[in-house]
Amino acid sequence: MLGRVNHVAIAVPDLEAATASYRDTLGATVSAPQSLPEHGVTVVFVELPNTKIELLEPLGAESPIAAFLAKNPAGGMHHICYEVDDILGARDRLTESGARVLGGGEPKIGAHGKPVLFLHPKDFNGTLIELEQL
Ligand code: CO
Repeated sequence: MLGRVNHVAIAVPDLEAATASYRDTLGATVSAPQSLPEHGVTVVFVELPNTKIELLEPLGAESPIAAFLAKNPAGGMHHICYEVDDILGARDRLTESGARVLGGGEPKIGAHGKPVLFLHPKDFNGTLIELEQL
């Protein structure tokens, strides 16, 4: 069911500082910041040869990563995104096996314009999993 790792997302308290770390200290190629108000984040993409890292900074009072940063003030790994061929088939298989799909189980359009779902971290070793259909 799982394909490639599409991205790893890291919540950061200061996007400018995090961008500078990846660009200047780690020598990575980073994008310009993009504000995604419908997702409550501003994101910078770190382009790597085999995947991407997304640096996420909260945007707006309703940001889904605000609570995470309140618990992890220095930032931390927020989720990992795996690619799937058939997101509805994946959802049905997961639901049948007892895994919890967040947000009522209907895919939403994610930061890359593709349908995504999130799986409850308590069902997967404390890791928030995003599935994205390419
Ligand atoms: Co993501």
